[in-house]
Amino acid sequence: MTRPQETCDWEALRALAHEAMRHAYAPYSGYPVGVAALVDDGRTVSGCNVENASYGLGLCAECGLVSELQRTGGGRLTHFTCVDGNGDVLVPCGRCRQLLYEFGGPDLLLETPEGVLPLARMLPQAFGPDHLTK
Ligand code: THU
Repeated sequence: MTRPQETCDWEALRALAHEAMRHAYAPYSGYPVGVAALVDDGRTVSGCNVENASYGLGLCAECGLVSELQRTGGGRLTHFTCVDGNGDVLVPCGRCRQLLYEFGGPDLLLETPEGVLPLARMLPQAFGPDHLTK
């Protein structure tokens, strides 16, 4: 698989998300999701949703992605994409926008069905780490 470039090869990043989606465990919703992101040191991270018989405990794909980010050395997310079971670009849910904000901030670029947008547009007036130090 091609490695996304520093400038971001969105197609390659989407391919990584698609590959992650194939590992989803989504027997309850039947809605597999895959995500992938570029990190500021050139690394890529990805994740898939993992559901649970206790429905409310299901993990969104973004949970796996931020976990991999931390496990593999931390850093800041710079570019992010999310795909559904058909490989179509999907918007991250509200809770996951907050997860992404923690590790990418307002300038994180998201691929959305309406084009590439900064997270500041997808999560306006975000609550974040800065509030806790004020
Ligand atoms: N899902 C994600 O993994 N990420 C999102 O941003 C949107 C929703 C998952 C959660 C659940 O397993 C399935 O999609 C249906 O909601």
